[in-house]
Amino acid sequence: MSRSHLIAPSILSADFSALGAALREAEAAGADWFHIDVMDGRFVPNITMGPVIVRACRRSTALPLDVHLMISEPERYLEAFARAGADILTVHAETCPHLHRTLQSIRELGCQAGVALNPATPVGVLSEVLDMLDLVLIMSVNPGFSGQAFIPQALHKIRQMRAMLGSRAVHIEVDGGINAETLPQARAAGANIFVAASAIFGHPQGIAAGLKTLRAQV
Ligand code: DX5
Ligand code: ZN
Repeated sequence: MSRSHLIAPSILSADFSALGAALREAEAAGADWFHIDVMDGRFVPNITMGPVIVRACRRSTALPLDVHLMISEPERYLEAFARAGADILTVHAETCPHLHRTLQSIRELGCQAGVALNPATPVGVLSEVLDMLDLVLIMSVNPGFSGQAFIPQALHKIRQMRAMLGSRAVHIEVDGGINAETLPQARAAGANIFVAASAIFGHPQGIAAGLKTLRAQV
């Protein structure tokens, strides 16, 4: 079944001692994509995972791997992540002085190209590259950690972005603080991919219950 509104569990809140099992459970419970949060301790104040984990995920699931690069100079690592099995590579506009070239490189590697925008970055920075995008990621928290509260201003940016994109078939993904209350707001504003870490992997009744709760809102 192909859906137009997708749920992308972020593995950041998964149990890394049993990552493969967590992915299989989420896939069986209806995950559409997996979202992998790569952090370098420079662009964001946290260090998480690199291509080795992407490769481990690739071995555990056939679902698309949506790799969110919260790293400085992402162009240095695109090939490594593509080779590790990424399907979508999303860079932050704030880290890319040569965004046009970086987006070209992502597509040349055979991946879909995404750009993420921090809460303080206006959507206008993408006006000249709209036709090079497969996905725009609107951050609804400041990147770095899971479990933060949704920043409502993101809804305004999602609406602006949807209007800017016009009829282009570009995904709008929203990331940070997504739960059963905020997901419908983001959906109404025009987002179609919903990333969630704590609401899924941190759900008190388990992964399947977390996914089911969000799916009911999609
Ligand atoms: C934050 C990451 C998010 C994070 C979401 O920097 O980009 O993907 O894992 O976590 P929750 O869903 O808990 O806000
Ligand atoms: Zn993310």
